[in-house]
Parts: sequence; structure tokens; C-alpha cells
Amino acid sequence: ASIAERVRAVVEEHRGDRGALMPILHDLQEEFGYIADEMVPALARELNLSRADVHGVVTFYTDFRSEPAGTTVVKLCRAEACQSVGAERVVAHAEQTLGSKLGKTTADGAVTVEQVFCLGNCALGPAAQVNGRMYGHVTPERFDSLIAEAKA
Ligand code: FES
Repeated sequence: ASIAERVRAVVEEHRGDRGALMPILHDLQEEFGYIADEMVPALARELNLSRADVHGVVTFYTDFRSEPAGTTVVKLCRAEACQSVGAERVVAHAEQTLGSKLGKTTADGAVTVEQVFCLGNCALGPAAQVNGRMYGHVTPERFDSLIAEAKA
């Protein structure tokens, strides 16, 4: 099925739900891994919203990606407890060494680094999650070795 057909089918499943946009976006992201640009006008049409409304929701919530994720997905915690023990240094290092901004995927499609606000691992900050696995005391050096391990 084309993307437009899938969008229509998912909207159909949520027909009659109030505030259906969020659950619809979650379903589409689960199926495709991201919210493709071309889904936005299709959703706007189906739900009687403006494109700007749909686009706003996709970009506002960090849950939604607007491009496919890399093979390795790293979540770096930037909440207060982790910030106080050097999370920002890790973030700056990650952006610099990978050459891609938070929320973006490296040009080779290998790594996506995203920010999160608390992973529930505050005592062991800076905390990170790599492909769903939790790590603590993440320094810039540790970040490099986690990426190397994930790629190996
Ligand atoms: Fe970073 Fe809670 S503040 S894990």
C-alpha cells in the first residue's frame, strides 16, 4: 500500500476518536519508523486540520521523528541531575564527533542521537541509552566506546 493509503487506513481505525492525531501519529511512526513529510498533507486532509497544525505536533513532540532513525539510536539525558554531572559535555562531544545535530541521523545512516529528559537513571548520570540499553557515568570517552561497540 502507498503511504497515502496507509495514512487513510490508520485514520480510519481512529475514526470517531477525539484528539486522534497523537494516536494516529504513534501508529504511523510504529509502522514506518518515522513521520514522512508526505504524510503531513495527507493527515491534514483526512483530519480536517491545517498542514501547519500537523507539522507543529510532529516537530513539538520529541517522540516523533521526521526521518528514518539510524541503525544505532542513542538517547542522551539532558535533565537536571545529569546536567549537573556533565551531560552537556557529552552532548557537545556527540554532535561534534558524529557531525550531526541532536535528533538527526549521521549522513551514513549509522547513528541517531536524541535528547531525552530523564531516563530514571539519575544517580548514575550522565545517563544514556544505546539501542534500548541503559548506561551510566557516560563521559565523552565512554560515549565514543559505546558508539564503537554498537557499530562493531
Ligand atoms: Fe538523567 Fe534522570 S536526570 S536520568
